[in-house]
Amino acid sequence: MSKQTFYLTTPIYYVNDVPHIGHSYTTIAADVLARYKRMKNYDVFFLTGTDEHGQKIQKAAQAYNKTPLEFVDTVVDKFKNLWEALEISHDGFIRTTDEDHCRRVRNIFQRIFENGDIYLGEYEGWYCIPCESFWIESQLHETKCPECKRAVEKVKEKNYFFRLSKYRNALLEYYEKHPHFIQPESRRNEILHRIQSHIEDISISRSAVEWGIQVPMDPTHTIYVWIDALMNYVTALGYDDDMQKFEKYWPANVHIIGKEILWFHGAIWPAILMSLNIDLPCKVYAHGWWTIEGKKISKSLGNAIDPHSIIQLYGTDAYRYFLLREVPFGLDGNFSYNALIHRINSDLGNDLGNLLQRTLTMIDKYFQGIIPEVPDEEDELRGLSRDTHMKMDSEMDKLQFSRALEIVWEFIGRANKFVEDKKPWSLAKSDTTRPQLAAALGTLAAAIRDISFYVYPFMPKTAAEIQRQLGIREEGQQLCLEFQQGFKKGTVVKKGKPLFPRVELSAMNVAETVA
Ligand code: ME8
Repeated sequence: MSKQTFYLTTPIYYVNDVPHIGHSYTTIAADVLARYKRMKNYDVFFLTGTDEHGQKIQKAAQAYNKTPLEFVDTVVDKFKNLWEALEISHDGFIRTTDEDHCRRVRNIFQRIFENGDIYLGEYEGWYCIPCESFWIESQLHETKCPECKRAVEKVKEKNYFFRLSKYRNALLEYYEKHPHFIQPESRRNEILHRIQSHIEDISISRSAVEWGIQVPMDPTHTIYVWIDALMNYVTALGYDDDMQKFEKYWPANVHIIGKEILWFHGAIWPAILMSLNIDLPCKVYAHGWWTIEGKKISKSLGNAIDPHSIIQLYGTDAYRYFLLREVPFGLDGNFSYNALIHRINSDLGNDLGNLLQRTLTMIDKYFQGIIPEVPDEEDELRGLSRDTHMKMDSEMDKLQFSRALEIVWEFIGRANKFVEDKKPWSLAKSDTTRPQLAAALGTLAAAIRDISFYVYPFMPKTAAEIQRQLGIREEGQQLCLEFQQGFKKGTVVKKGKPLFPRVELSAMNVAETVA
């Protein structure tokens, strides 16, 4: 039987600048979900990539005295390198300068035109280059862009328009019938109200911007960068000239995005798909924004911490864990080194690391490193682990990553309490309690093995190291990702270094924090 498919995407990021924590957040969240779904035996296609056209990139290239293509080629590698350092397991990486993408975008544009949903009109209003967004006068915030509060420029030009207003009722009907299409709920309501109150046709070409895909029926215009970008979700699957992947994976199960681009994904993209008569994605999930020490992340504020520097100091897994554990997915969050260090020392070091360390120490001491066999009967931790698994599944399906981790950490807490309650060191004092001692340590080893599965999507390296120390995986071998009962007879543990040694706030962090 063929596997069920799961197609998930991140936004494609602008390459006008290097990636920061915010970009890594979305990509890590998508990676966690992709790994989790693969573990559940889905045939996953996980797409990320880069958005390389438009005025913002054109300007950035000029500033570096490079052609746009020379410029984007260098920045793209920075994204790819970061994804590698963060163990991102994407299946596809699309660049909007890819020839296949450009050709397909032109075909799609032509098709929408032929459907009668594109017409030539005149646009007069304001344009925000950093957001690559059009605004009308009444939307401005004290003459600035309502989204990023930066200066906008006046635009008056002939543009091609997409008949978004034609899809008003169809969109409202769709949201009504699919109440979980836009998540979280509060964001869905924002979009709903915006459409109910006012929806206009949108400009989808620029005559003043050279760096873009040409409008097929008019070479004096380029396609508005947002339209080019949104189409990546289908062009990456071969739509519309190599349909095999598209037929297999579309519709996307979820587009994971940041909240500031929900209008594009929750209203414009669905309307385009309706015009093309293509199914809509199952879900658009808009997460919140990270600030740094309370401030918006931005190059001009000089606070955009390079994720590489955090990884170098604290490791990839601690960083992945922190971002998804600290803030409920959907809400805004604040990055601080103090909070990161607290999570490392407390959750990762004290709770998880110590559980492994103390259990293996006792197995070494009392059983020469051989994991004792456990009688095949229900024990406290086995039942709790099953509950943990079930609850975790339900939270992961809702993309509630922090809740899923909380549930796993409750289980880790129960396993630590099990040690305190059973007091193996007391049981070891007498031969008569040796069977209880064996049962307690065997039970703990099994619980830790289950924990390696639970933490795997979030911390793949840690999961692998736990399995190595438990003696169920050799160095360099693939991780075991299938739940099992019992250990192979005679499995010998290989206690190693602590998973998460205690860390202190370094002088370097303090300097950055203060700056
Ligand atoms: O908008 N906190 O690209 P972009 C959390 N190219 N997430 C953040 C963040 C922050 N402070 N800053 C950025 C674009 N992000 C378009 C997308 S998609 C068809 C085209 C993440 O480089 C978040 O996912 O500005 C946000 O939506 C995305 O990066 C914006 O990246």
